[in-house]
Amino acid sequence: MIFTVAIDGPAAAGKGTISRAVAAHFGFAHLDTGLLYRAVGTKGGDPVAAALGLTPDDLARPDLRTAEAGQAASRVAAIPEVRAALVAFQRRFARADGGAVLDGRDIGTVICPEAEVKLYVTASDAVRAHRRWLELRGSGISEAEVLAQLVERDRRDTAREAAPLKPAADALLLDTTELTIDAAVNKAIAAINERI
Ligand code: C5P
Repeated sequence: MIFTVAIDGPAAAGKGTISRAVAAHFGFAHLDTGLLYRAVGTKGGDPVAAALGLTPDDLARPDLRTAEAGQAASRVAAIPEVRAALVAFQRRFARADGGAVLDGRDIGTVICPEAEVKLYVTASDAVRAHRRWLELRGSGISEAEVLAQLVERDRRDTAREAAPLKPAADALLLDTTELTIDAAVNKAIAAINERI
């Protein structure tokens, strides 16, 4: 079965949690496309060469989840040649037999406009910063600093020329500000069940 679920939205809105739960529920493969840009942003050297030469080992590095890696990712993600180098891999993953969930910023708009289900997941800035701070606080970063970094990253991701962050015209909007994880996951599963 070819079936793609595209999940886009700003940082820390709940995309990753929803994507993992949905993939487990339906037995689909899951690709966190932010990891591709994090790996490129932290590799050093020429980012286009890094994107063209990305290996599975690059995606398994433990330092990819840090706040610095997120900032580095959003800088290289604005380079059209970096994005172009990553398109084919993501499209193959999206249309591979067995079903796939991809989460990122441009999955429903650019990578997989033919996705059977498109979700655009959002939450208020304060709630997103709080959630991300809970994940990162071991590193000593303050919640205010996390908020400032998120707002800066969203601004860069929304304002860039190449594949800016925005909902696809036919995406279902899912605001998780006041939802529990279970409630958000159940809404996503219900939307997919309508199309499967
Ligand atoms: O989702 P995550 O926080 O890991 O993404 C890191 C950065 O990678 C984002 O801020 C964005 O600039 C970039 N990105 C992107 N397109 C995607 C996924 C991530 O531009 N599909």
